[in-house]
Amino acid sequence: MSQKIINGIDKLPGILQEVGCQRLFLLIDSSYPFLNIKNAIEAMPVVKVKFSDFTPNPLYEQVCKGIELMKESKSDTILAVGGGSAIDVAKCIKLAVLAEEGDAAIIPPLVSQRLPIEGGKIPFVAVPTTAGTGSESTHNAVMYYEGAKQTVTNDGILPEYAVLEPSVLKTLPDYQKRCTMLDALSQGIESWWSIHSTEESREYSKRTVVLIMANWRKYIFENDSAAAAQIMMAANYGGRAINIAETTAPHAMSYKITSKYGLPHGHAVAVCLPEVWQYMTDNMKEVKDKRGSRYLEMVFAEIAHAMGFDKVGEAIAQFRQMMHEMGMLYPKSDNIVADLKELTESVNPVRLKNNPISIDEDIAYALYSRIINA
Ligand SMILES: NC(=O)c1ccc[n+]([C@@H]2O[C@H](COP(=O)([O-])OP(=O)(O)OC[C@H]3O[C@@H](n4cnc5c(N)ncnc54)[C@H](O)[C@@H]3O)[C@@H](O)[C@H]2O)c1
Repeated sequence: MSQKIINGIDKLPGILQEVGCQRLFLLIDSSYPFLNIKNAIEAMPVVKVKFSDFTPNPLYEQVCKGIELMKESKSDTILAVGGGSAIDVAKCIKLAVLAEEGDAAIIPPLVSQRLPIEGGKIPFVAVPTTAGTGSESTHNAVMYYEGAKQTVTNDGILPEYAVLEPSVLKTLPDYQKRCTMLDALSQGIESWWSIHSTEESREYSKRTVVLIMANWRKYIFENDSAAAAQIMMAANYGGRAINIAETTAPHAMSYKITSKYGLPHGHAVAVCLPEVWQYMTDNMKEVKDKRGSRYLEMVFAEIAHAMGFDKVGEAIAQFRQMMHEMGMLYPKSDNIVADLKELTESVNPVRLKNNPISIDEDIAYALYSRIINA
């Protein structure tokens, strides 16, 4: 299914008219009362049924409440206004409402089965208020079930419309800006080296990385609105890239870092990425991408070039330098032996399979030992 990417919140009323919306299911997170676009949304002449009863990194039980409300309210259109968590909750609700299997569609074993649904039956508009996940342009949703992170994948949950309004980033707290931007940069880099990359996805990856490198300082340290617009675009390209190529080892290794040390998603991924990249450049013989080690060397060189460097080592150092300049610390452990074991056992096998160089348990252990207490 193709998606329309629209610039400017002023286009929202026209979109709702176009899809014939009368009863809007409006998913919002706790930032909604403070958003500069709130009044524009409130002013839209449709019945609004609001749902905000969920947390960042949403839980299945929370999503179920939303499914119930969506069914009861007989809403005809979904609008999600928020970060990746709000957009992902909306996707899960849409899938469960449309799938014959109901709530069971978003938990194991059905979650990985791409159930047939007619996505167009409930038009879905996403307005991201962070610039990081690119969730507004992916067919994935992340949700926790019984303590484990589930990735719900279905072509029918890709929002029909993504509306980009970068001025909304003005209220995003500094630390969230840093975490989400690092998520976007990591998605750009990982999708570029993923074994599933295509010519199209690599073009999106490149745009992500180039735009972030050109604008990150002004966005983070000067609150520059032109830079914010470029970073929001970059994050969207990152979403489009992972929608084709998926993420890899740094994402696979990050999930337990988030749940164990409370590091937000983008921060947790970013502490893993330089270590994984360094390991891969030192072990090019282990390449498992069918396109071979020459191809992977070329990809690494292209990523470095997009970051402004001739050598891969310099690009890795720059990634670390960015983390340092933004004050992004590494997780600390008081019980390093037990923690390393737990982390190593947690690595997500699905994401790991997308990595161009094999990473087994021993390697993951060694990598974590460089990340924790670094
Ligand atoms: N579906 C996908 O393709 C995909 C891709 C990457 C990550 N994710 C998931 O997305 C989630 C993370 O999303 P996120 O990083 O956007 O954060 P988030 O949605 O969890 O939001 C983080 C916090 O920022 C606040 N916030 C959001 N926008 C704000 C604004 N403009 N002003 C003030 N506060 C604001 C929220 O209220 C919340 O408290 C994770 O669950 C992650 O796994 C999904």
